[in-house]
Amino acid sequence: MSDHKVAYITGGTKGIGFGIAKVLLENGISVAFSGRKRDDVEKAERELKQYSENVLGIVSDVRSLESEEEAVKYTVEKFGRLDFVIANAGLGIFKPVDELTAEEWNDMIDTNLTGVFYTLKASVEELKKTEGYYITVSSLAGANFFENGTGYNASKFGVVGFTQAAMIDLRKHNIKSTVIMPGSVATNFNGNVPSEKDSWKIQPEDMGNLVLDILKMNPRVLPSKIEFRATKPA
Ligand SMILES: NC(=O)c1ccc[n+]([C@@H]2O[C@H](COP(=O)([O-])OP(=O)(O)OC[C@H]3O[C@@H](n4cnc5c(N)ncnc54)[C@H](OP(=O)(O)O)[C@@H]3O)[C@@H](O)[C@H]2O)c1
Repeated sequence: MSDHKVAYITGGTKGIGFGIAKVLLENGISVAFSGRKRDDVEKAERELKQYSENVLGIVSDVRSLESEEEAVKYTVEKFGRLDFVIANAGLGIFKPVDELTAEEWNDMIDTNLTGVFYTLKASVEELKKTEGYYITVSSLAGANFFENGTGYNASKFGVVGFTQAAMIDLRKHNIKSTVIMPGSVATNFNGNVPSEKDSWKIQPEDMGNLVLDILKMNPRVLPSKIEFRATKPA
């Protein structure tokens, strides 16, 4: 890609969002990313600067539309435009439905589903200007339900439906949309500490390479829903 392009990634302080940021920066794309904790955002920004100086860490919580509007404003102030939005921030709490609290339910729905809408809502006018790209990170849990998964399954099934319906609306504005549904990725998700035992899993960098491949596709084609899994599950 030769033109100057700018991405905003939610939840980029670690895991998948960090991996996507790294690959985009290595490929000449300017990156703004968010997280809720200032210390984590500053640490990730320092680490990402080794790949490119064109990186901006922003403290933002996707559960707040106002906060996402500010994040988009900072991104455009810093880099002058916004081409790619990757709605990635999310969390999972896994418990039997009779034990899941209302607070835990709301935390997942507000972050994983409403947050994805807020990030789009805050950025859509900028994406119209650049005829950009909107990518969401759902999960294979957005197609397959499992024990202890009610809140997480509901949020991720929701992201698949939301992104596909948004795709139909947004393509009228020449904005492309893709929902990615990864299997197990070696991250800090659900309290995991990535180690050698995770070597069979998708790595965060693999997610970055997938996003880069999607962004590079010919404008006439649109991979609207992608299931992405480890070749050999443990
Ligand atoms: N790892 C997997 O196996 C897997 C598989 C399929 C799908 N996914 C999905 O991939 C996405 C990324 O997860 P991950 O595996 O990279 O997990 P992770 O290592 O725990 O990273 C999650 C990121 O999201 C941020 N975040 C959480 N809540 C946020 C909020 N309200 N506002 C802004 N940022 C927030 C976190 O930063 P702070 O906590 O500091 O805010 C962190 O940067 C999630 O949507 C997850 O559901 C993961």
